[in-house]
Amino acid sequence: MTPQQLAGLLKKPELNDDDIVTLLGLTDPGLCGMLRDAAFARTTELLGPYVYYRGLIELSNICTANCRYCGIRKANHAVKRYTMTQEEIVEQAVWAARNGYGSVCLQSGERHDEKFIEFICSCLREIHEKTKGPLLPKGVGVTLSLGDQEEEVYRRWAEACGNPESLRYLARFETSNPKLFAMLHSTPGTNEKNLEHRFACLRSLRRCGYQVGSGVMIGIPGQTLEDLAHDIRTFQEIDVDMIGMGPYLRSEGNDLESLGQMEPRALLQLALNMIAVTRLVMGPVNIAAATALQAIRDDGREMGIEYGCNIVMPNLSPQRFRKGYQLYDNKPCLDDEPTHCASCLEKRIESRGRSVGWNMSGSSRHYLRRMGRPDEVKPAKDYTPDGKRLIRLRAI
Ligand code: 5AD
Ligand code: FES
Repeated sequence: MTPQQLAGLLKKPELNDDDIVTLLGLTDPGLCGMLRDAAFARTTELLGPYVYYRGLIELSNICTANCRYCGIRKANHAVKRYTMTQEEIVEQAVWAARNGYGSVCLQSGERHDEKFIEFICSCLREIHEKTKGPLLPKGVGVTLSLGDQEEEVYRRWAEACGNPESLRYLARFETSNPKLFAMLHSTPGTNEKNLEHRFACLRSLRRCGYQVGSGVMIGIPGQTLEDLAHDIRTFQEIDVDMIGMGPYLRSEGNDLESLGQMEPRALLQLALNMIAVTRLVMGPVNIAAATALQAIRDDGREMGIEYGCNIVMPNLSPQRFRKGYQLYDNKPCLDDEPTHCASCLEKRIESRGRSVGWNMSGSSRHYLRRMGRPDEVKPAKDYTPDGKRLIRLRAI
């Protein structure tokens, strides 16, 4: 493909399946750069200059599922299991709210027992009460990432959170190819996975009022460019509000080690292409720069931002918990504390021409439009003309 041909393709108002496959498969650095610039410009045009934080709280690594790709699956007996206390979880959420993060994400392994369900309700109620204030009148926004659940459970958590306008749920479908999905989840056990059931969960979440997030892994052994193109079409069909995608990475504790992993440079480029094409096709959805990008290259998440991401999920876990939550090998920042991650990240984001949307909940604009709600108010200017920061924390 010549640069002229690519420029023509990138100008098309709608991409067809062949176009998508062509863009996903780009490897020439110059052409990839053109795709990156088109996606970055489209992101600015649709969403403005902000990148939003979701402070990630990895509250427990206990899991009843056995997803073969996952380093903390139930059958990995080498992992020491932990669950944070309610006090520890709430403390992290309050820290995030006080430090200008408009929202947090509670993530853990999958459990269906009543004790766990009620524990989450209780955490959500306390987080809401303790984060309400002049900066965040409705409390901190909450994203949940707690696996496949009954609709009734999604409803109970939605009620407990107290801030329905900034309520979100992430449940990646991992791949839209049913055979590949079956391969990823083929370990027999009590909590087996099924692609149609995952889609049904996403529909339940929508009925319960969540902003619905999903996503896939990129570079799964056996996956094709056509599969990834179909994943993007599936995002359209589900009409997702948010997307989280990252490269598939091998992991010592997983059950796919023998199948290997794509060569890291090619894998990173494929993941970045997938982000850019998803932005071009999906418009004003939120797209998160997955931490897995950073596991391949130190500035992988910043590259994700250049290719169209507008969300970053800084890890809020105290250092002592981080080793227990290694979904894949080389997970970055294992030795860092949250304060370090926060300051490091803002510099990284600004180095790529974006600013952090401090104290903004950063709801998906796609969602706000669907609900007929106005766009979130833009905060006052962050910087003086000579580049000094004016105010960091401000009410909106
Ligand atoms: N490589 C990349 N991503 C992974 N995830 C889990 N294991 C891996 C891995 N080995 C991702 C899955 C899951 C999310 C929480 O983490 O996509 O949905
Ligand atoms: Fe349960 Fe990964 S298999 S969190």
